[in-house]
Amino acid sequence: MNNPENFRIIVVDDEIRAVEGLVELLRLDGYVVAGYSEPLQVLGHLKKASADLLLTDLKMPEMDGLELLQQVKTLDPALNVVMITGQGTVNDAVAAMKAGADDYLIKPLNVDELGIVISRIFTTRELLRQNQMLREASRESVTQEDFVGRSPKMQQIFRALRDVAPTMATVLIEGETGTGKELVARALHRHGLRSEKPLVTINCAALHEGLLESELFGHVKGAFTGAVRNKPGKFALADGGTIFLDEIGDMALSVQAKLLRVLVSGEFQQVGGEQTHYVDVRVLAATNKNLLQAVAAGEFREDLYYRLNVIQFTLPPLRERFGDIALLVKYFCQQIAEREGRQAVFPERDAMHLLENSLWPGNVRELENVIERAVIYAKEQPISIDDLPESLQARAVLAATLKDDSKNGADNSFTGLTIKEAEKQMILAALERCPSKAQAARELGISVRKIEYRVKEWQKQ
Ligand SMILES: Nc1ncnc2c1ncn2[C@@H]1O[C@H](COP(=O)(O)OP(=O)(O)OP(=O)(O)O)[C@@H](O)[C@H]1O
Ligand SMILES: [Mg+2]
Repeated sequence: MNNPENFRIIVVDDEIRAVEGLVELLRLDGYVVAGYSEPLQVLGHLKKASADLLLTDLKMPEMDGLELLQQVKTLDPALNVVMITGQGTVNDAVAAMKAGADDYLIKPLNVDELGIVISRIFTTRELLRQNQMLREASRESVTQEDFVGRSPKMQQIFRALRDVAPTMATVLIEGETGTGKELVARALHRHGLRSEKPLVTINCAALHEGLLESELFGHVKGAFTGAVRNKPGKFALADGGTIFLDEIGDMALSVQAKLLRVLVSGEFQQVGGEQTHYVDVRVLAATNKNLLQAVAAGEFREDLYYRLNVIQFTLPPLRERFGDIALLVKYFCQQIAEREGRQAVFPERDAMHLLENSLWPGNVRELENVIERAVIYAKEQPISIDDLPESLQARAVLAATLKDDSKNGADNSFTGLTIKEAEKQMILAALERCPSKAQAARELGISVRKIEYRVKEWQKQ
């Protein structure tokens, strides 16, 4: 079932009573409705905001329904229009259909018939929307490989990738967790001069000092208990290719000294070994720490920092590129569908709104996980708000607060409040500001049900 809160209807009739009745009826069904008594108001509305369906009376003094139909179609060719005619004007209704109306209804309106016509248009529109997202997602995946992003910050990263990949430069990739650091490392290798040779990855945070040294440089038989045979390290394995040192900010100082030596001269010794080995390796490193701060704190060698930081990539967190969220969501929906060998499904409008307006502390990885789960819960239907984690709604409220504050430049009026209290203030303010609950819900990026639930909770207090 499609969620009616995702469907915006405009009603226009010169008889105000008729408008009021229709608006009330449709709102009860959960649709987002605006009602007007003059066609010009409809045009004004459409210049500012979009809509899905226009229900228009045919005979109106200022401008008749047919003329309005033509004008709204120039503003928004995709808008669906249903003409409402009096009895005995069926010929006009047919003319309206020829001029591009989707259907017509005869006064007095039959409520069941109205419901059927609206839900048919709604279903078709939602289907078209899903198809459009499918097309966009497949176009995106062909052009950008496994990297998605249209925001200026990501475009800058892509440009830098193209420039830096085919060089031997050492690269330091910084960014919060889940922002795509490993993806950058792999892309640098794939488009590099050594793409035929191995890319060897090591996570420096996963191993303690001694083991990390042995993993990186190898050890000789008998070097320590358990070293029963000679073992080459990752640097030797990466010879001629690329090594990716992930989480380098967590590397112990003693290992940092040995790493510096390889970077400077290509030389190293295995743990317990005497012999000096030489390698020719391109080095990529990543960290979610601020390495300069680590240098200041004495946890990271300054000389090593400058050796690594020949070229720096800083991946922006999702909160600095909200605009990429919809794109990523479509891309993940498409990827999952391909993997599972089924038809892709995408979020309904309000679910997408919530995803785009939430905070993402886990960045792209978290978004990807949320979509993966949602696709499973949605059972081959478009993803609805109910398929998304509850916590997103509270986060969206918080995100809206942060956005508002930065817009107003005001000091944080929510300072000292708990999230629950801030949420209450925001919901109440939205209810006051918006003509309908559905609109308030949309602006806040939460469901109407959630608002109703909260209001009931407060009433009980
Ligand atoms: N721009 C992007 N387009 C498509 N997928 C992305 C993008 N950025 C990240 N991802 C996906 O998000 C997930 C996390 O990315 P990745 O592992 O590269 O992040 P990371 O910065 O290395 O995270 P961590 O610091 O936690 O190791 C991966 O599945 C990756 O494919
Ligand atoms: Mg990583």
